[in-house]
Amino acid sequence: MSASATPRVLVARAVFDEVIERLRQYFEVRHNQGDAVWPQDELIQRLQGADGVFVTGTEAIDTRLLAACPQLRAVCSMAVGYNNIDVAACTERGVLVSNAPDVLTETTADFGFALMMAAARRISESEHFLRAGRWTRWGHDMFAGGDVHGATLGVLGMGRIGQAIARRGALGFGMPVIYHNRSRLAPEIEVRLGARYVAKDELLRQSDHLVLVLPYGPASHHAIGAPELALMKPTATLTNVARGGIVDDAALAQALRERRIAAAGLDVFEGEPAVHPELLTLPNVVLTPHIASASLPTRRAMAHLAADNLIAALGAGPQAGKPPTALNPQVLGVTR
Ligand code: DGY
Repeated sequence: MSASATPRVLVARAVFDEVIERLRQYFEVRHNQGDAVWPQDELIQRLQGADGVFVTGTEAIDTRLLAACPQLRAVCSMAVGYNNIDVAACTERGVLVSNAPDVLTETTADFGFALMMAAARRISESEHFLRAGRWTRWGHDMFAGGDVHGATLGVLGMGRIGQAIARRGALGFGMPVIYHNRSRLAPEIEVRLGARYVAKDELLRQSDHLVLVLPYGPASHHAIGAPELALMKPTATLTNVARGGIVDDAALAQALRERRIAAAGLDVFEGEPAVHPELLTLPNVVLTPHIASASLPTRRAMAHLAADNLIAALGAGPQAGKPPTALNPQVLGVTR
């Protein structure tokens, strides 16, 4: 970008109109408000000449794209998860990367809790039964599931969202909370959350309701597969609001079919938007299309945070040069 030219940015997916308008105050904006599906070659072509790109958690920003878009200076995502962005490759090329943490924490925790409760209390399964006109009379054990209050809540991945889920369980539902994480929380945080650190195997063995909230990457690929599912209680539920690929969906489908665990709640899938075909046929799994952060206020906040980052990363606006949630601020010579 030359010092005098207006920077150009591309917004790769449809987003709130007000966000486009905000970006227009600073940049020449190309957008995709029709939300067309752009294969990577088309994204590359549309990025020619762009100084920055606004993305979501679905566009692959990899070495191929970066090599084909040498002018790119900033990749700003409205998602908190950034496994679609090769941050190391961006850093090597001096491309600023940002994500959108914090603003979605409570909304995502609400949804994780709701999905866990829906699985435990068989809400989706019983609703289908009712809608199908099969409800003819009350029954003493009809759709009897597991309790949530007082049951042991297990959290795998105790970052911001994991802690928000733990807080809901401990304070709202009187649940003993156990967790496993790459690093143990500070003792005062454990005390505040009423959460006890355990080894992963113990977490699997003891949890009545296990919620996955860990980031996805090579280290967490299939963190829950057949061997892990085999350790869980037959009455347990498994909820995933993190990323597809953390769970081996084929192994989970088999465990659910054989009732080796009671139920699951899944918002994310391996290879989504495709869903393992067997999961679609099982009654004891609640399936939602990656919407854990999808309250309107939160999605707006996520989009505005990505815009804040893009504006600042390209040297404009009140935070010029200091994108608030940069993942590699060193490329701008900024220390957070
Ligand atoms: C996130 O922010 O990472 C959500 O999963 C949406 O992609």
